[in-house]
This record gives sequence, C-alpha cells and structure tokens, in this order.
Amino acid sequence: MKKISLTGIKPTGTPHLGNYLGAIRPALELTKNYDTVYFIADYHALTTVHDGAEMHDNIHKVAATWLAMGLDPEKGLFYKQSDIPEIFELSWALSCFTPKGFMNRAHAYKAKVEANRAENLDLDTNINMGLYCYPCLMDADILMFGADVVPVGKDQKQHVEFARDVAIRFNKQMNKDVFTIPEPLIQESTDVIPGLDGRKMSKSYDNTIEIFLESKALKKKLGKIVTNSQGIEEPKDPDSCNVFKLFKLFATEDECADLAAKYRAGGMGWGYAKGELQRVLERTFGDAREKYFDLMAHPERIDEILCAGAEKARPVAKARLEQVREVIGVGKIV
Ligand code: TRP
Repeated sequence: MKKISLTGIKPTGTPHLGNYLGAIRPALELTKNYDTVYFIADYHALTTVHDGAEMHDNIHKVAATWLAMGLDPEKGLFYKQSDIPEIFELSWALSCFTPKGFMNRAHAYKAKVEANRAENLDLDTNINMGLYCYPCLMDADILMFGADVVPVGKDQKQHVEFARDVAIRFNKQMNKDVFTIPEPLIQESTDVIPGLDGRKMSKSYDNTIEIFLESKALKKKLGKIVTNSQGIEEPKDPDSCNVFKLFKLFATEDECADLAAKYRAGGMGWGYAKGELQRVLERTFGDAREKYFDLMAHPERIDEILCAGAEKARPVAKARLEQVREVIGVGKIV
C-alpha cells in the first residue's frame, strides 16, 4: 500500500508564487508516489476571514488553483474541510488529549501575544478562540486521514509536530494504535522566495505576485520588484537581485547561466531582466492560467468537484471517527 501525503491550504487570499512553490508544487510532485489527501482549510481561514463573500471567493480561487495546476480529483481525495463535519468532532476529542501548554507555545498565537505586548495592549486583544485552538483542528485534519507525511512550509512544522505528539499520547493513553504518526515534510526552499520588496513573499507583507495574472497585470506587478539603482551599462550582481532570485526558481540551468552572464557583462537594464522573468512565468503558468480562468467563470463546476470529493472523503472520516468513539467509550454514531 502507498503511503499517504496530506496537506491543506487556507483560503485567505489569491494564491501567489510563494504558495505555489512552497505548497502546491511539492504537494503535486508527491502524487506520483503517495496516495494524496489535499484540501481547502476553510474553517482555519475563518480565524481571520469574517466576510462571507470574501470567504466564498477565496475558496473558489484556491480550489481552481489546485485543479488548474494539475491536481486530478479522481485520484486521491480533494475536498473542503467544512464539508467533513467529522473533522470537527475529532478536533474536540483530540483537544481533550492536548496539553494547554502546547497551545500557549504555538507560534502563530505567541506572535499575536507578543505583538500585543509590544503595543502595550491587553495580551488577548484580537485573539479569538479559533486562533488559540487552531492547532487542535489541524491535528484532526491530519490524523483523521492517516497521513504519513505532511508537506508544509517551515512555518507549519510545529503544528505537524503537535499532531505527532497528540497521536502518540492518544495511542498510548488509550492503549491502541488508532492514529498513524505523521511526519512533516519541510520545504527548505520556502523561506527564500522573495516578494516584491525582497522580504519573504507573504500576504502579510503585501509583496506577493499572484500565480494567475493576465500578461498586462503581470508586467505591471513585475515592474514593482525592487532593484538597485544601477544604470544600464553597469555590470550587475545576479545573486543579490530579487528579479534573478525569482527567475532562478522557474528557469532552466542554461537560462540561468545565460542571464547571469548578461548581468555581469553590463549593458543590460532591469526592464530586460524583468522581461525574462515574465517569459519564464508565462511559460510555467500559461496553460494553467487558461484553465484557472475557465473554472473561475464556472464556479458550479468547482462546487461539483468539491461535493464529489466530500462524498468520497466522508466515509473514510466516518470510519476513523467510529474507531475513536469506540476507544474513548462514547459508542457508535447513532
Ligand atoms: N495551517 C496551514 C497553513 O496555514 C493550513 C492547514 C490546515 C494545514 N490544516 C492543515 C496544512 C493540515 C497541513 C495539514 O498553511
């Protein structure tokens, strides 16, 4: 039997190159050797997105991105988290095996507390219980489907480690191997994807390049990548340049050597380098972009796929939940 790879993407905005390189591409590569469970973590997004229309739109964008990039919904499981109510029951059960101290130490929560402290605010300001309990829901996501590996960016490593720990605790305390012990599969490269300003590409820095931009919008976006003020004639250093760093992630080795040589030789302006970046991005995403816009124009198709995915995933979730319910002594689902 193949091992299981599972990951979720939070629908909090329009998917960008950082999401693609850090989560989508590595997850899709794993479809070759693993059974896959990929889902849209909408109830995780609810910790921050409190606008129904925006949530609805974000869900479609993330789903269309996965599908456009080649996820085959017939193979493996592909669903939206909120369609599997069993996950939320499991989340509660697992929270009863989770030391509160774990949650106090969770990075995302801690970062908010520290931000409040820095601003001399009450430490609980703008922290809802969803944010505090976020890791418990993630444990349920992961353990429900027996994930062996969880491909995630570095920032999510701690969460997967919580899931590991809780699975071990549960199995030990209940004296039964109910849960598979998952392992994080970390994308080392995720922290080197520079955004427009050179900092890590992230929605919170407002420096993202969305995956599916029309050519004109893409050109405008790439125009905003920060470069130094060297003139055309001056020789330039490719390795410290944000444009080149991004180019490298999508170009062949030969193309990289070529462009690097042009940087060093001088006589090349930033407009040319950005044009080269645009060329490799269009090559990488051109076909998928058409699929994406086609799906976005027919959201009912996306809904249909997600609905079929939930139908396929729920029996799996139900079986695991039955097992958990039996072990903890509350009995079968009536
Ligand atoms: N917390 C993850 C993120 O912000 C999204 C997520 C939710 C997830 N549930 C998951 C990732 C389960 C992996 C496994 O990126």
